[in-house]
This record gives sequence, C-alpha cells and structure tokens, in this order.
Amino acid sequence: MYASASAGSRSEQRNALVTGAGSGIGAAIAEALARSGCAVVCTDRNEAGADATAARIRAAGGSAASLPLDIADDSAVATLPEKVVAGLGAIDVLVNNAGVGGEVPTSGLTMADVRAVLRVNLEGAVAVTLALLPQLRASGSGRVLNVASIQGFRGARDSLAYGASKGALVNLTRDLACDLADDGVLVNALAPGFVNTPMARYADGTTEYETDWFRTIYVENARIPLRRPAEPEEVAEAALFLCSPANTYVTGQVLAVDGGMTATF
Ligand code: NAI
Repeated sequence: MYASASAGSRSEQRNALVTGAGSGIGAAIAEALARSGCAVVCTDRNEAGADATAARIRAAGGSAASLPLDIADDSAVATLPEKVVAGLGAIDVLVNNAGVGGEVPTSGLTMADVRAVLRVNLEGAVAVTLALLPQLRASGSGRVLNVASIQGFRGARDSLAYGASKGALVNLTRDLACDLADDGVLVNALAPGFVNTPMARYADGTTEYETDWFRTIYVENARIPLRRPAEPEEVAEAALFLCSPANTYVTGQVLAVDGGMTATF
C-alpha cells in the first residue's frame, strides 16, 4: 500500500527511493537516508518488509512511504514515475539495492537460472534508473547509488550468474556517470563484502558466518583484515556520503565496504 510521505520543499528536503528496502542493506540505507533528512520511498517486492521499514522510519520521526515494487516487472516499473510524482513530486536520490543471490554449480546451471539473476540484479536496476531518469536529471543534484558486490571484480565458485550481474552493475555505474555528469547527477556503487543480512542466512536460520570454514579462513586467517562480516548499518554509512549533496566530485566510482578483504592477497 502506498502511504504518502510528506513532500518537502525542493530547497530544503531531498527525496530518495530505495529498492529492496524491506530487508538487510536496503532497509539500513533507507533508515540512514531518513535520519539524514531525506523523505524516503521504501520499495520492495516484499510489501510487508517495505511497510515495516517505512513504519520504523516514521516512528523515529522521519518521513517515509512504502510502495510494493518488483523491479523485474516492467509494467510495475513503468508506473513508478507517476506514483512517485503523486507521492513526493521528485526524486533526488535513487538507491538500486534490490538483489538476489543464489549459488549454483556451473555444471548444473541452466539459462533459466542465469536469466533469473540477471533479470533482477542487472535489468531491474537499469529499468528503475531509466524510469526515474527525468526526475533525477531535474533534481539538479541527483545521486544514483548501485549496490554491487566485491563479486563484481573478484571471482568465486558457483557464482557465475551473480558475479556476472554484479560485474555488469559495476561498469554500468561508470557508463551512467559519464552520461549524467552534465545534468549534475553523480553515479556511484558500493561493493560490500560479507554482510550480516538474511541473504547470508541458511534455511535453518543460521548464517554462513557461524560456520567453521568462515571462522578459519576469514577470521582466524584474517582473509578479512577486520576479522568479521559487516552489519548492514556499516554499509549504509558508506552510502550516505555518496548520496548526499556533500558529495560534489565523486562519480563513477565503486567503493568496497569489505573490511579490507580486497586489499589483501
Ligand atoms: P536481503 O535478502 O536481506 O534483501 C534483499 C531485498 O531485495 C529483499 O527485501 C528482497 O525482497 C528484495 N528483492 C529481491 N528481489 C527483488 C525484486 N525483484 N524486486 C524488488 N525487491 C526485490 O539481502 P541484502 O544482503 O540486504 O542484499 C541487498 C543487496 O546487497 C543485494 O543487491 C545484494 O546482492 C547486495 N550484497 C549483499 C551482500 C551480503 O553479504 N549480504 C554482499 C554484497 C552485496
């Protein structure tokens, strides 16, 4: 259900839209943007999740609306500008965060598996960006943030589709930054490493971070120099600067938020 956020005066308030805001990193980014003064449209294909995030923001005194949105549904994405204009009037900040994981050994991988991941992680982000392009351009200080992954520039077993989707997101960030620079829209990406969210959770509720292999490789052997996964709020802190008007000269960049993992051998 679309619950309207109070539209702010264009001079004092910025409006943000976050995809996948119903859980994990997207929820943390939406809440951080709201704390920084943005009115936030929390979108997710999980309507209850988006509603819950928006409710938390409002309970904390912020301004938020929720909107069910499956970014892989072209017809739903096409209605986005109309709904957003009705609710807020403009969008200054777009965070393309929604994504799906899924490890599948390449020997058993089907094209349906590959397309399902690309459809959300790559095509969904492009579709939402294109739909909101006129509004981001009109902002005068628009910001786009793509949530990629360090798997966008490092290989991993059983991750062909996911890694390809994130690699594409990394380079489209650079392309879009070139295309939108004349309109004052700055486009960047985050590349998280391991983050403690439902995406990292097994069916029984435990996480990969509690396993012996994670403890041995990433903690004891310091494959992550900071020796732990990130909390979603730590990723959100990195997002804040890139999305803010204080960022006036960083565009086309990918910031790894990985506890130093990609800094090491
Ligand atoms: P999560 O599973 O907690 O949240 C993902 C959210 O995206 C969910 O609320 C889900 O309903 C939504 N979503 C999925 N498909 C959607 C669609 N078609 N349309 C709209 N919403 C959709 O996962 P997490 O960890 O918060 O992931 C957020 C982003 O961060 C993803 O793009 C993921 O690839 C990326 N990431 C996560 C890492 C991690 O370790 N958790 C590491 C690196 C990147």
